[in-house]
Parts: sequence; C-alpha cells; structure tokens
Amino acid sequence: MTRKILLTAALPYANGAIHLGHLVEYIQTDIWTRFQKMRGHECWFVCADDTHGTPIMLRAEKEGVTPEQLIERVHAEHARDFAGFHVAFDNYYTTHSDETRHYSEDIFAKLKAAGLIEIRSIEQYYDPVKLMFLPDRFIKGECPKCGTRDQYGDACESCGAAYAPTDLKNPYSAVSGAQPVLKSSDHYFFKLSDPRCQDFLRQWTQQEERLQPEAANKLQEWLGSPGENKLTDWDISRDAPYFGFEIPGDNVESTGKYFYVWLDAPIGYMGSFKNFCDRKGLDFDEFWGKDSTAELYHFIGKDILYFHALFWPAELAHAGYRTPTKVFAHGFLTVDGAKMSKSRGTFITAESYLAQGLNPEWLRYYFAAKLNGSMEDIDLNLEDFTQRVNSDLIGKYINSASRAAGFVAKRFGGQLLHAHSNERFHADLPGIAEAAEEIAGYYEGRDTARALRRVMALADQINQYVDRNQPWVLAKQEGQEARLHEVCTLLINAFRLLTIYLKPVLPKLAQRAEEFLNVAPLHWRDAEYLLPPAHLINGYEHLMQRIDPKQIDALIAANRESLEPAATQAAAQSAVPPAPTIDPHSPQRHAQHQQATAPSPQPSPAGGEGANGGAFAPMIGMDDFSKVDLRVARIADAQHVEGADKLIRLTLDLGGETRNVFAGIKSAYDPAQLVGRLTVMVANLAPRKMKFGLSEGMVLAASDTDGKSPGLFLLSPDSGAQPGMRVK
Ligand code: MSP
Ligand code: ZN
Repeated sequence: MTRKILLTAALPYANGAIHLGHLVEYIQTDIWTRFQKMRGHECWFVCADDTHGTPIMLRAEKEGVTPEQLIERVHAEHARDFAGFHVAFDNYYTTHSDETRHYSEDIFAKLKAAGLIEIRSIEQYYDPVKLMFLPDRFIKGECPKCGTRDQYGDACESCGAAYAPTDLKNPYSAVSGAQPVLKSSDHYFFKLSDPRCQDFLRQWTQQEERLQPEAANKLQEWLGSPGENKLTDWDISRDAPYFGFEIPGDNVESTGKYFYVWLDAPIGYMGSFKNFCDRKGLDFDEFWGKDSTAELYHFIGKDILYFHALFWPAELAHAGYRTPTKVFAHGFLTVDGAKMSKSRGTFITAESYLAQGLNPEWLRYYFAAKLNGSMEDIDLNLEDFTQRVNSDLIGKYINSASRAAGFVAKRFGGQLLHAHSNERFHADLPGIAEAAEEIAGYYEGRDTARALRRVMALADQINQYVDRNQPWVLAKQEGQEARLHEVCTLLINAFRLLTIYLKPVLPKLAQRAEEFLNVAPLHWRDAEYLLPPAHLINGYEHLMQRIDPKQIDALIAANRESLEPAATQAAAQSAVPPAPTIDPHSPQRHAQHQQATAPSPQPSPAGGEGANGGAFAPMIGMDDFSKVDLRVARIADAQHVEGADKLIRLTLDLGGETRNVFAGIKSAYDPAQLVGRLTVMVANLAPRKMKFGLSEGMVLAASDTDGKSPGLFLLSPDSGAQPGMRVK
C-alpha cells in the first residue's frame, strides 16, 4: 500500500548560520524521507526559514539592512548549506509569506470564534530609550536568588533559578543599557487553561504512540493530573516595533499588535506545504484537512517539544485542522563530549565544514550511526568520527566493490557471469539479500544506528568471503577463470545490495555506485533480485576518500579563527547552545536558545561582542571600577631591553613620582618615538618582579584579541592633561 506522508523539520531561525548541531536534525529527517521515497511511498519533506521576531528585527537594524533583506540573504545561505549536505527538501520556504500569513489569520480567527482567545492587559519591562517592550532575554540584571550579575531576565546561568524579569535586581536593557520601566499593554492570549484544551491534550499526548516514551512522560509532568489545571494561557501577541504579521482587528483595522513568532512558526509548515501544493497541483487538504488520512510527522529538537506537543496540537484541533500523527524529538549534539564551543573551535558551521573540503557524507554516515530514535544527546567524537568513517565506509563497504571491480574490467570485459548465479549467491553469501526487510524495519523505526550496524555486519561477511576465496590468487592460477568470474560476480551483487541499504544515508555515493554498476536509480524493492546474467558494469573509479586527521585539525582551527574577524560573523555564530543548568524541555530554555542567536546588544554596559575585541567581560559595578587608579603619565624615558623581544622599559613621570614599567609594545613602537608623550597608566597595580627588573604598573593600549599586527595602540589623553591627573 502506498502511504501518503508529510514530513517537516523545525524551521531554523533566519538570523544565524546553520551549524553541525542543526544538521543532526535535517540529516535525520532527510534520511527518513529518502528511505520512504525508496520504499515507493508518496512522501514530501518541507521546511522554511523562521523569519519573525525581535532578535531578527534588531539584527537587521544592527547590520543596517531591512529585516526583509536580512531574511532573504540568510535564506540563500541556509538553502546553500542544506544542499551542500544533500538535504533534499521538496520545498524550502519562508514564514514571511502570504500562505503563512493566511493560515495564521485563519487559525487565529477560528480560535477566537471558539472562545479560546482572550485580551488581557499585562505589565512588562519597557526600554524608555529604545521605545520598545523588552523580551526576557533582552533584560539583564542581578539574579534574585544568588546575586550573580549580568543574568538574563528569565533564568540564571549561574544557579539555574528561573524567574520573571521583574524579579531581577538592578535590571537594565540589553539593547540600550537603559533602566527599563514597567508599562502595561494589551495582549492576546490563547486559553490553554481552558478545560477543552487540557482534556484534549491529556488524551492526545498519551495516545497512539504519538510521542516517544520520554517525551510522553515530560508531557504528563507538564499537564499534571486531571483537575490540576497546570497549563497557563499563552501570550501570542507582541507590541510594535516587531517584525512579523500584524494581528487583524475585528474589521481588519490595525491593532498595532503582532503575532508572536512562535504563533506563526509552526504554521509555517502549512505555509510551506501549501506553496508546494499550489506549484505541484497537489491537494493541500488531503494532508492537512480535518479528515486527512495522510501521515504527518514533525522532527524537532527536544528543546522545542513544548511548542510542538502542547501549543501546536491544541491550536490545530480547535481551529479545525488535523493534528500531527507523531512528533519525533531528538537530543542535542555535543562535540568531543562537551557542548559546542567557539573558543575550542567546535562550534562548527556547515559552511566551514564544506569549505574545508570535508565530505558531507562522512558526517551523514556518522550521525546516522549514532541516531537511534531516542531523545538522548549525541556526541561527535572527532577521533571516532575519523576511525569509524574510514573503517566502515572505506574499509568495509567500498572495499567490497574495489576488490572485485578490477578483475571484472580487465579479465571479463566488464561483464558479469553468464550463467545464473542466484542460488550460488544465496549459498555463498547467505543472509545478504534476506536482510532487506529487517534493515527497512530499523529505518522505519528511525533506528539508523541499528540499520547501519546490520549493514556493516553484512559488509564484514562479504569481506570474509573475499579473504576466503582470494580472487587475487585465483587470478594467477591456471584453470580458475570461471571461479574468479563467479566470485567477482557475487561480490558485485553483494555490493549492489549494500548500496541499496546505505542509499538513504549516502545518496551521492549511491549515485556514483549506480553509475559504476550501470543500473537505474535503486529502490528498496530492487533488493528482491540480483543483477541479470552477463550484465555489463562500468569502469571503477575510487568512490570515496578516507578522512585524513589533518583535515579535522584544519576544520577546528578554521572555526576557532572565525571568531575574530568581522562583527557580523561573530554575531552570526553566536548561537550558543543552552546552559546545562536549565531544563532542556522548558520553554524558557527555548527562549534562551532563540535569543542567544539574537544580535548582540550595542556595546553598552550590557555586554555583548566588540567587533575586534571578542566578547565583553562580565559587568562590574562602579565600586569595582573605582578600585583601579588610572593616571596620566609622561614617558620620561624609553629604552630597549636587552634580551627581550617584546618589551620596552618605560620611565613614567606621574607629576613628581616616577615609575619603572616594562611594556610589551616593542612590536608597534620605537622607543625613541615615545619619549615625551603622554599616556595612561594603572598606578596601583601591585609591582611585579620580572626577569629584567621590577615593573611598577602598566600602560594602557588597545589591541585586537588575536594580537596580530597592526594591532597595538597606546592610549593618550587629549592635550592639556597633566602628568598625575586621575582618569575616571
Ligand atoms: N525556529 C525554531 C523552530 C521553529 S519550528 C516551527 C528553532 N530554530 S533553531 O534554529 O534554533 O533550531 C532549529 C532546530 O535545530 C531545532 O529543532 C533545534 O532543536 C535544532 N538544533 C539546534 N541546535 C542543535 C544542537 N546543538 N543539536 C541538535 N539539534 C539542535 O528552534
Ligand atoms: Zn542565580
């Protein structure tokens, strides 16, 4: 029976680059799509950029472009990165579309008609300088619980406490640095606390294996027992200025309110599919209508379970649409056992991976070998990655073909054996053809790890067969021509079967194998038979290179370096994974994730990223700052230091007192130039004994974080300042 299947992967935010963490999701969804298509089902895979919200608005502003320009550029980058990893969406669209607007308004209107929308006035922090309400992640202050400074408005990264922004002590706006004020405004709420929603969700989430067991448990926890009424209403509107869809008023007058990005984001799945249907002549309702019998699956990260398993089905069900058949959540990617880190160079972008010349199918294989359909985190261990790919793909799979291909070409004119060798095949290589349905079952259950283990066990069996039969020995023996031909024919057939089994994971490699085998694109049912007698194959070219560990070193180095250059680049890569102290299932955790990809606030007291200087240091108070005694100093003398490459010895005049300071500025200054000029020094730095003598303070200079030339600039006060004056 041909199934109708619609698949989605979460819509990536349009303000950051695709990184290897994202790819865990898009690769696994792509593998499942390809598998279903190979099985002959009608299967569509749609996705889009998630383009709305405050972070995107501010990011565009910071880059000096319109939000539309920003999302258009990022869309092209995302599409390029996904194509580079052979993620083959049937449609890759945008939420900033007429279709998504249409369904957003439609669902909103239907929920309103059902009495599930309520307007309520709420008080929120407002930035009086920037003239905007501040999302939680754009408010910082001291943690109400542990007092750590510079914490976000929703949760403390130091002690893990979750709280409201109004609980912060000494709050400030991360956008302008101003002290926020409380201001009230009307908001639209989706009444999730309504008994209709609660009852519906209690059933829906525990039925029909809709969710993985771990996810179902999480939902149970969020929902509580009947009568507990644990769900609170969901605020689905935001005030201007906002980049999104304006909420229509009753007579479609302007409300000045916008749909919160998470209201229209999942609706973007519908928008993308509708756009596809219109172009393809498909019937949208067959998949999304209330009575649809098609299968609908959402692949998501565990951080957005709340949105997909609570808000989303409740919205759909009460707006007259079908709900998803299942939601498949996966865990987070770590690299070498730790969360991805820019300073360690393990925050690896899709773009850099490809730019370094690494083969995307290596990563597809490795992720597939680790994914088992659960919500566990998965680790990219770089050494294991190299070994696994080299030994499995090259050592086992490719080897099974390359060991036979040469003989077929040279000795038999590229032709396989004439006599039918079916029985011989099953006798000599038992189980290889028979494994097809078992392996299909593992793919169906999204346990690609198990599917690949099974395939590699078959590859081992094939290579043992090669070792037992030693074609290279047969080739030299008199009268073994027929036997050699048979062994090689069986091997080519075995390789073809492995190619079918690996094709969902390795589409490009499979395509090259198909060319070599001289066969039409392989489907799963092609595993039911062998190649016809006397089939001609093409000349063999090496199908895949091994990973050289040096390539991995270069990749890490490239990602470490890419921290430094342009501000835009630093911002593009600021999608730091969540702090481990916060429950990865909580919506706060998600808000944090989104806004971590937000534009960094202006270099104000708020912190953020300086263009050339890396991240700003944590906030300090005036009392901390005033501990540093900065003084104007006149350079009375400057001398080379014998035996030191970097140092110049300065004699600094502080208006009466003189100090001896060794300064590491030789790369940029000639001592003779320095004599007589004014600069700024730290006058109360504890003296430090150095190899060349005592250093009694330090002078201030600006530099690039990487310390590369020409990056050193000694500070000097405006003219008129006198030695000894305090700088504050
Ligand atoms: N825009 C929302 C999703 C809206 S869906 C209607 C979003 N975007 S995201 O860019 O932050 O993440 C996109 C997907 O990638 C999410 O499913 C997220 O869980 C996943 N991942 C992002 N970083 C990840 C890792 N480090 N590891 C694994 N998956 C990760 O969320
Ligand atoms: Zn705290």
